[in-house]
Amino acid sequence: MDMMLTDSKIHNETRQGEAFAPFEQDSNIYTKRFYIESYGCQMNFSDSEIVASILQNEGFGATRNFEEADLVLLNTCSIREKAEQTVRKRLQAFRQVKQQRPGMLIGVLGCMAERLKSKLLEEEKLVDMVVGPDAYRTLPGLIEEAETGQKAVNVLLSREETYADISPVRLGSNGVTAFISIMRGCNNMCSFCVVPFTRGRERSRDAHSIIQEARDLYEQGFREVTLLGQNVDSYYWHDENTNKPVTFAMLLEMVALVHPNLRIRFSTSHPKDITDDVLFTMAKYENICNYIHLPVQSGNTRILQIMNRTYTREWYMSKVDRIREIIPDCGISSDIIAGFCSETEEEHQDTLSIMDYSRYDYSYMFFYSERPGTLAARRYPDDVPLDVKKRRLQEIVDKQYHLSLVSNQQDVGKTFKVLIEGESKKSEDEWMGRNSQNKVIVFPKDNTNLQPGSYAWVKVHQCNKATLIGTRIDQPE
Ligand code: SAH
Ligand code: SF4
Ligand code: F3S
Repeated sequence: MDMMLTDSKIHNETRQGEAFAPFEQDSNIYTKRFYIESYGCQMNFSDSEIVASILQNEGFGATRNFEEADLVLLNTCSIREKAEQTVRKRLQAFRQVKQQRPGMLIGVLGCMAERLKSKLLEEEKLVDMVVGPDAYRTLPGLIEEAETGQKAVNVLLSREETYADISPVRLGSNGVTAFISIMRGCNNMCSFCVVPFTRGRERSRDAHSIIQEARDLYEQGFREVTLLGQNVDSYYWHDENTNKPVTFAMLLEMVALVHPNLRIRFSTSHPKDITDDVLFTMAKYENICNYIHLPVQSGNTRILQIMNRTYTREWYMSKVDRIREIIPDCGISSDIIAGFCSETEEEHQDTLSIMDYSRYDYSYMFFYSERPGTLAARRYPDDVPLDVKKRRLQEIVDKQYHLSLVSNQQDVGKTFKVLIEGESKKSEDEWMGRNSQNKVIVFPKDNTNLQPGSYAWVKVHQCNKATLIGTRIDQPE
């Protein structure tokens, strides 16, 4: 069994070669071509849009076909071993193309670049550039260096870099939903996690530049923004003009005020940092979606402690209670790790029972993968056998399938405001969109003037575990 539910949305390590619609039409103004593939979390996808912007300024146009690219970039993820293996396989495919076209440059960006640094050049001989997540501004110089046949490396991490002034080129966009990166890095030290090493210290982006980006997106026709950070609730930016701090709750409110028709989502919330202020702000603004990604990782207090998550089982449960109290119809999703070091069968049962308690609509589920250099790798033996990890993961996946189905069944008969993202994959006669709780809804187009970016009211009459199926109705009173 593989992690069926895991690699489909945020932590999608296999999603490849996104589309490059925005500037193909003026392709003749570009003298060179780049191709980029992104792996890992939404932040990596968002970073690729920064990279595209930097390259565009250097005269590089995007291509969807790596065989015609002068520059091939892989924006990589290190979160689990499998993520790195996927990238290595991909590099092998590029190697063959490079043998025919030696002038083509291959660059590794992102977290694997940061973790392995110049070791990557020794291990993967045909890689020309290794560029860490805080060094993308130096890409033009690095490309020049690589063009002269030198190996180019910049993996310096920064305490300040937020790329606030760079306007991302939206790659593979549906024209309706977009990411806005609001902070970088992570100051938590979850013992299993490589991110603090690959992304560096936490820093928050200038709030005004975030609002401006949201406004620009709205004007371009976008109707939903997702504010991104490893730990968005610890967003904190000091406004020198007013001499006042901006907290995440304040930022949410500022973005909500950009336009009532612009939906706002955010990810990820660390349970220890999400405040009542944030919950009340969500409740106050209709356009802030009622959906929280609140990774639990484990339902057992001892495991949470050695994971260094800094909350207990009870504390997490009371956070879920608080969310349901302040935002009764809030969707909640989670990340869960099966088989962390020394986890017993009973402790695993605690994870299953906290899933029931939290009634997750969705989860990203993984088995523990030891990452070199992390606290867990140094301190705790990776001692749960692989077959046990996989079996526990399967139990977690089965539980989640059941919870997702039950949650969707409870929505049958309800009416939701849906933001249309595009045509349904299964039928060109149907629209696909999401409700505030982030659930996918499909419904027949009928003969209305709706289009991607429109809102529609949809009454649900059927569901499966992944999708709600409904029909459009007039706006309820
Ligand atoms: N910042 C986010 C998570 C980022 S990583 C947060 O704190 O919630 C995304 C998810 O990958 C994590 O939530 C965790 O469930 C999983 N993950 C991280 N390191 C892992 C590892 N070594 N093995 C398995 N899963 C891991
Ligand atoms: Fe990793 Fe923990 Fe930071 Fe999330 S909060 S990125 S899991 S260290
Ligand atoms: Fe992966 Fe780096 Fe994101 S390790 S999950 S791409 S921050």
